[in-house]
Amino acid sequence: KMKPTLALQIPLLLLLLVLPGQPQLVKSVPGSVDEDGLCHCVVHLSNSLIPLNQLEQLQSITQELMDKYDKELSRVSAGAAGGGWQLHEHILSWIQHEEEQDCLLRLELEGAQELVTQLMAKDGGNEAEDLLSQLQSQVANASLTLKLLADSDQRSLRAYRQELDVLEGRLSDCEREKCQEASDPPVPPGSCAHAGLQKVSRPLVVQLNWRGFSHKAGVWGRDAAPNLDSSLYWVAPLGSENRYFDYYRLYKSYDDLVLMKDFVERKMGYGDGSGNTVYENFMYFNYYGTRDIAKVNLSSNTLVLQRTLPSATYNNRFSYAGVPWKDIDFAGDEKGLWVLYATEESKGNLVVSRLNTSTLEVEKTWRTSQYKPAMSGAFMACGVLYALRPLSTRQEEIFYAFDTTTGRERRLSILLDKMLETLHGINYSPLDHKLYVYNDGYLINYDLSFLTLKQKQSKRPA
Ligand SMILES: *[C@@H]1O[C@H](CO)[C@@H](O)[C@H](O)[C@H]1NC(C)=O
Ligand SMILES: *[C@@H]1O[C@H](CO)[C@@H](O)[C@H](O)[C@H]1NC(C)=O
Ligand SMILES: *[C@@H]1O[C@H](CO)[C@@H](O)[C@H](O)[C@H]1NC(C)=O
Repeated sequence: KMKPTLALQIPLLLLLLVLPGQPQLVKSVPGSVDEDGLCHCVVHLSNSLIPLNQLEQLQSITQELMDKYDKELSRVSAGAAGGGWQLHEHILSWIQHEEEQDCLLRLELEGAQELVTQLMAKDGGNEAEDLLSQLQSQVANASLTLKLLADSDQRSLRAYRQELDVLEGRLSDCEREKCQEASDPPVPPGSCAHAGLQKVSRPLVVQLNWRGFSHKAGVWGRDAAPNLDSSLYWVAPLGSENRYFDYYRLYKSYDDLVLMKDFVERKMGYGDGSGNTVYENFMYFNYYGTRDIAKVNLSSNTLVLQRTLPSATYNNRFSYAGVPWKDIDFAGDEKGLWVLYATEESKGNLVVSRLNTSTLEVEKTWRTSQYKPAMSGAFMACGVLYALRPLSTRQEEIFYAFDTTTGRERRLSILLDKMLETLHGINYSPLDHKLYVYNDGYLINYDLSFLTLKQKQSKRPA
């Protein structure tokens, strides 16, 4: 007669343990005993709270328990009347033991969750993030479901531990993938097989310019010819009035420049502003007080060509913000030689022209929607114009891009730290993907990284 009563109590006990935070769900569970003395009870639980397979596991655990209790019962029946109490103690100790195990598992889950959070904090702007947040919610889900599960369900514990192992495995796979992505092969020198500028490194301060502190304006760089194994570096600090280009130095290597040795020092009079660039061993600059563009053979320091840039404004009419006398700004990249300027027709908005390097004739002109005096500078990379503006005395933003291949413009936000307030000359080198910047008398450079085509593709939603 004792058997059905006990058998009824066991599943009830289990179900109460299943939902410790939801006692209202199992407030009353009607049970009945059939002719064979078997107990039946029906409990309705929402699927969203407990997955069915776990309920099944619970049921089989219940079966196991009942079998145990059958054994226990025969022992108790054979023994004294106080055996009922002994049985109760047995249940309690068994449950306690399971609670300890569960506690351990919970700690593990918490650890995994923290790992995911750290991983996400480590690096933003990556497609691994989607995967990571998926994982995070899965881990969170596992914890939640665990809370809903019986503390006494050992098999479920094992199943969850396995699930946790799988999740942790996927997390470390994900970490590995992220590292691999960071070390993706860089875009080869001179190549445009990429999907545009992605980010800019912190600045590297190379040195103070050779003419000293008082020469706050100037320009420097590396010969921008793409398919040339040139390592010609040049530095041109403007005069101390911050307007005229006259002297410049050439170095055969970066080491020579850093050590300030084996240079050639030249004088070329005169240019306006810090818009100079060097392309295939020729320097290009704005001939002072005119809208003329000039070309110097660097081997002989001779002016080989001077030509008017049609309708370009000059004499500080539309220079850059904070950078005077830079009305006409040259840029070299993988696609050739460019000149950035503004016209009266463009209402001061920046226009880009590609130049024929042998004649200095304008091959083609593109008009942008951006007011040149609102920018602090610009450069070209793979035929795309990137424009900068100051955010503060310590930070610049590349905020705008114009692609001459498609004629399309877009907004972007890539931040650049700067050492001092004003970026004067800004020149890009396709050979090393560096940006050479003259920062209030200091020569600094930045590494540019480009989005790989693969990364661009994988950014699209599946
Ligand atoms: C979390 O669990 C619920 C209920 O089992 C399920 O509907 C949902 O899809 C799960 N979410 C994730 C991310 O696994
Ligand atoms: C540049 O100058 C060098 C040295 O005088 C000379 O050999 C070379 O032909 C010049 N190049 C051009 C294109 O004028
Ligand atoms: C530059 O102009 C010259 C003379 O008109 C021409 O022969 C040459 O092909 C042009 N170069 C390019 C790259 O178009």
